[in-house]
Amino acid sequence: MGILGRNQMLALAVFKVLFSINTVHGIGANWGTQSSHPLPPPTVVKLLRDNGIQKVKLFDAESSVLRALSGSGIEVMVGIPNDMLFSLANSVDAAERWVEKNVSAYVSSNSVDIRYVAVGNEPFLRASNGTFIGTTFPALRNIQAALIKAGLGSRVRVTIPLNADVYQSSTENPSTGDFRPDIHDLMVQIVSFLSLNGGIFTVNIYPFISLYNDPSFPLDYAFFDGYSSPINDNGRIYTNVFDANFDTLVWALEKNGFGNLTIVVGEIGWPTDGDRNANIASAQRFNQGFMSHMNKGTPMRPVPMDVYLFSLIDEDAKSIQPGNFERHWGIFNYDGTPKYNLSLGSNNNELVPASNVQYLNRRWCVLSPSANPVDPQLGPSVSYACANSDCTSLGYGTSCSNLNAQGNASYAFNSYYQQKNQLDSTCQFPNLSVITTSDPSVGTCKFKIMIRTTNPGASGISPDPSFGLVQVLVFLLALLVVV
Ligand SMILES: *[C@@H]1O[C@H](CO)[C@@H](O)[C@H](O)[C@H]1NC(C)=O
Ligand SMILES: *[C@@H]1O[C@H](CO)[C@@H](O)[C@H](O)[C@H]1NC(C)=O
Ligand SMILES: *[C@@H]1O[C@H](CO)[C@@H](O)[C@H](O)[C@H]1NC(C)=O
Ligand SMILES: *[C@@H]1O[C@H](CO)[C@@H](O)[C@H](O)[C@H]1NC(C)=O
Ligand SMILES: *[C@@H]1O[C@H](CO)[C@@H](O)[C@H](O)[C@H]1NC(C)=O
Ligand SMILES: *[C@@H]1O[C@H](CO)[C@@H](O)[C@H](O)[C@H]1NC(C)=O
Repeated sequence: MGILGRNQMLALAVFKVLFSINTVHGIGANWGTQSSHPLPPPTVVKLLRDNGIQKVKLFDAESSVLRALSGSGIEVMVGIPNDMLFSLANSVDAAERWVEKNVSAYVSSNSVDIRYVAVGNEPFLRASNGTFIGTTFPALRNIQAALIKAGLGSRVRVTIPLNADVYQSSTENPSTGDFRPDIHDLMVQIVSFLSLNGGIFTVNIYPFISLYNDPSFPLDYAFFDGYSSPINDNGRIYTNVFDANFDTLVWALEKNGFGNLTIVVGEIGWPTDGDRNANIASAQRFNQGFMSHMNKGTPMRPVPMDVYLFSLIDEDAKSIQPGNFERHWGIFNYDGTPKYNLSLGSNNNELVPASNVQYLNRRWCVLSPSANPVDPQLGPSVSYACANSDCTSLGYGTSCSNLNAQGNASYAFNSYYQQKNQLDSTCQFPNLSVITTSDPSVGTCKFKIMIRTTNPGASGISPDPSFGLVQVLVFLLALLVVV
């Protein structure tokens, strides 16, 4: 600050622009498939390519997804879910079979450009209660050995996507960073193994969660456009929590002798709904700010970063245990339409929507205008609809917080009806629901029309037998109340 003159700053700026153009690492994205109605994999691959997304991170090794990526030129990180760690840790055979089936086969015959295997997903998260502490490292070793045996040792690298809670700092200064005490020695062993085998450190960093967990967290510190009370760590200036968090990891690695280990940001992003801080404007501010920022790097590593945005597309079947925002991380909606404008480097400012998406009919299920607002079945019916669909856009601070109680009921009924592919029997809440052809969306609150999926396994293609049963029970209960 103040050390460089104007010309030097200009020269530096020009240098940085040239530098970032020449060495841009290419943006990546996480492709999760926990959706009731996922877009067909070929549609998603085209979406990636149309938007210049060059790398994709998967959470498993689903064959339809890998087949669609064949010949696409997109770099792939395949994933091993946590529930497979135990068997892979305990059986060299299982690890060899996994590599044969889920890596070798695609690399050789289908020309899928698999570059990384992610062993587990945030296995040491505090919320996992240590469940995967004993199995993750042995599974990593077995997968690495299997890759070498398969002749892929130099082509495919191993990693473990870890949440940023595997390290911590004793003050706000990143330089006091080290690994979490309960897993410190394990982390050093893993880092040493990754370093020896050409592996990479993958970390997921979430400024949104900092804000979500701590109402007094300074809002501007979560973003990349300046903060009034920067942290000065022995001359290194931190104006955003991402840099401070990332450099805490750099210090933890350095302190333990692995200061040169490659770090990749496995997940970074901002949700658009389900919380008062989750909205389109904040997500755009964060992601666009990050897109410029990632080419600069952090004070400890001032070089362009390797990054996978979280996430590509909303997933309406994710657990909402972390919060209602969890189903809204996509830069694209469930149907592949962009939520906001975002420059990813190679595209213009506008994201390209998914092509040839097939929708169900323009029909919605809503609360009947003649419904009795104090009908005793209203509450239970809304609860049932929400429990079996997605109502995370309702409530304080969400996109549908403008609805009144009737609007809420309509939203719930429609959400259920669309989730069940507009089956007539799913808009038959007695005396309460009715089908309409006029769009009930109001302002920011969008009433979905579900997309058509050909996957016979997708939920609700066949009538939902439990619904009839619940209707009967509700009816019997109503009778009891009347009597
Ligand atoms: C390959 O990956 C899929 C999807 O993650 C998994 O279900 C399957 O068990 C794996 N195959 C082997 C042989 O482990
Ligand atoms: C961890 O423990 C808490 C409290 O005992 C429990 O609520 C939670 O379900 C556990 N999580 C896992 C992944 O086992
Ligand atoms: C880290 O990288 C620097 C620059 O490439 C190199 O000089 C140094 O020896 C490396 N340190 C270790 C521990 O590998
Ligand atoms: C992107 O910006 C253009 C104008 O610059 C605007 O017309 C368009 O609606 C925006 N798209 C989204 C998804 O916000
Ligand atoms: C609408 O539903 C949400 C979520 O269940 C609730 O928080 C909110 O209070 C409801 N609004 C009204 C006006 O009933
Ligand atoms: C529907 O409304 C009618 C007339 O108000 C009433 O007689 C009937 O019991 C209601 N049906 C149910 C299932 O609540």
